[in-house]
Amino acid sequence: MASAQEITYAAGSNRTRQSRKTKTVNAPPELISEDDIKARVSELAREISADYADVDDLVMIGILKGSFIFLADLSRRLTIPRTIDFIAVSSYGKGSKSTGAVRLVMDVRGNIDGKHVLIVEDIVDTGHTLKYLIGILQSHGPASIKTAALLHKPGSAEVDVPIDYVGFGIGDEWVVGYGLDFAERDRTLPYIGVVTPDDR
Ligand code: IMP
Ligand code: MG
Repeated sequence: MASAQEITYAAGSNRTRQSRKTKTVNAPPELISEDDIKARVSELAREISADYADVDDLVMIGILKGSFIFLADLSRRLTIPRTIDFIAVSSYGKGSKSTGAVRLVMDVRGNIDGKHVLIVEDIVDTGHTLKYLIGILQSHGPASIKTAALLHKPGSAEVDVPIDYVGFGIGDEWVVGYGLDFAERDRTLPYIGVVTPDDR
């Protein structure tokens, strides 16, 4: 039986469909397919597992909310011992333009003192969020900090921030799906799609 998701969105197409709630929605046009994401996440997992082969507890810290699906898939494909934690920030409010002001909404729960930390982010745009978080986590005294981002918009960088593992580079467009949202919508879309927010 088809899931509600399949009924609401025809992956890869931009046709208008009728959802079960009889609300009409537009499926965002596809930028990166579900299969391409899967393949790239597996490659990243292999690379990370090799780089941390000698580490006995890699702490993966997902940035909520956008990274939750990427973190779930990436963490399950690693072949090294790892634990999961989360941190939550807010940077854009409801719009799609970065204010540059990042606010910590929830800090990590676990003790990362002396641990190897991998920050897992959905997308790096201006770089403010990641830079701010590296600063916060650095103050907790980890052995090392590296960063992984599923997506990167190199043309939008405002601050210099190291990204050790990047899934895909994309242009300056607003993307949704696979955890990413626009005003909380489309996070559960299985592929990466493009939307055109009114304020861009
Ligand atoms: P930065 O601080 O400008 O690098 O923005 C990073 C954060 O903004 C990410 O964690 C995302 O939550 C959000 N973001 C930036 N670009 C997009 C996008 O195209 N789609 C969805 N969220 C985005
Ligand atoms: Mg985010």
